Amino acid sequence: MTRVFSGVKPTGHLTLGNYLGAIRQWAAVDQHRSDALFCVVDLHALTVDHDPARVRRLSRQAATLLLAAGLDPQLCTLFVQSHVDEHARLSYVLECVATDGEMRRMIQYKEKAARERERGGSVRLSLLTYPVLMAADILAYGTDEVPVGDDQTQHVELARDLAVRFNQRYGHTFVVPKATRPPVASRVMNLQDPMSKMGKSDDSGSGIVYLLDEPDVVRKKVMRAVTDSGRDVVYDPEGRPGVANLLEILAACTGGNPGALGGVYESYGALKKDTADAVVEVLKPVQARHKELCADPVYVEGVLRDGAEKARAMARPTVDAAYRAIGLLEPSSDPVAEPVLNAAR
Ligand code: TRP
Repeated sequence: MTRVFSGVKPTGHLTLGNYLGAIRQWAAVDQHRSDALFCVVDLHALTVDHDPARVRRLSRQAATLLLAAGLDPQLCTLFVQSHVDEHARLSYVLECVATDGEMRRMIQYKEKAARERERGGSVRLSLLTYPVLMAADILAYGTDEVPVGDDQTQHVELARDLAVRFNQRYGHTFVVPKATRPPVASRVMNLQDPMSKMGKSDDSGSGIVYLLDEPDVVRKKVMRAVTDSGRDVVYDPEGRPGVANLLEILAACTGGNPGALGGVYESYGALKKDTADAVVEVLKPVQARHKELCADPVYVEGVLRDGAEKARAMARPTVDAAYRAIGLLEPSSDPVAEPVLNAAR
């Protein structure tokens, strides 16, 4: 069966973009047709300035929301990255395969590092090596497919390159993964700035619909979305990005086609109203389930404990194999080793 791995970084509250672009697909399709692992990648949240208590809170919330969105621990493996040591263990080995130049060419690194420097801040070394840790996340599990948004395809390419390079140099160890993309609304844009992604780490919340936003907040945000000059509703992502974004969100929520929906509306106002209603409907069951799960933290903790145990058992053999292949001495499991040590003293 195809092995699928994907991750959510707890750097902000999960958004409608995360849901329509990824999580919904994981729940509806991926966990059923594949052997899927979904990971709250908390180690990745430490690559930029962070508040420890907030990361902890967001990690728990992300895991709870993934369950609320329909991930079923009977079907998939849901866990928190830092609960499984194999990620960090493998990451170091892959750092010995990746090059400095390769890391500095990563678009996301260049953008984030530049922004940080502009603000006069310092860039954490982990921001540079982050794609290697992501490669470790993927390669530790023999992953075939990584469902991610377009902004992550370069990182998945790196994981491929590292797998191929490692296999060539040290013998076949890793499955070579590939990125996959969901069909509709893989990129929900910010309602206030339809040229940039609706990202959870963005500072201003007015263009971002969060999964836990109350219905009236959702309505307000959608009704205030920036639209384009012109009045007729047409689907033109290049020329009318604001309207196109609303049409894509509406299509993703109702199962329609953004191009066809364009012809249906007489005014921007009517489009916004229907889009707001559709988003509220889509979020309703997720929010209800989230509330139930919050009342049962022991259940959620149990899911994460079992998930980590399953994940560890899957990753361990591959990471051990990589350690041996690259030249690390296998520790002795011989129980008489200790008395020998004492005798030598
Ligand atoms: N880098 C991804 C993001 O920012 C999160 C991530 C970390 C991930 N490790 C992963 C995604 C492994 C897919 C597979 O969204």
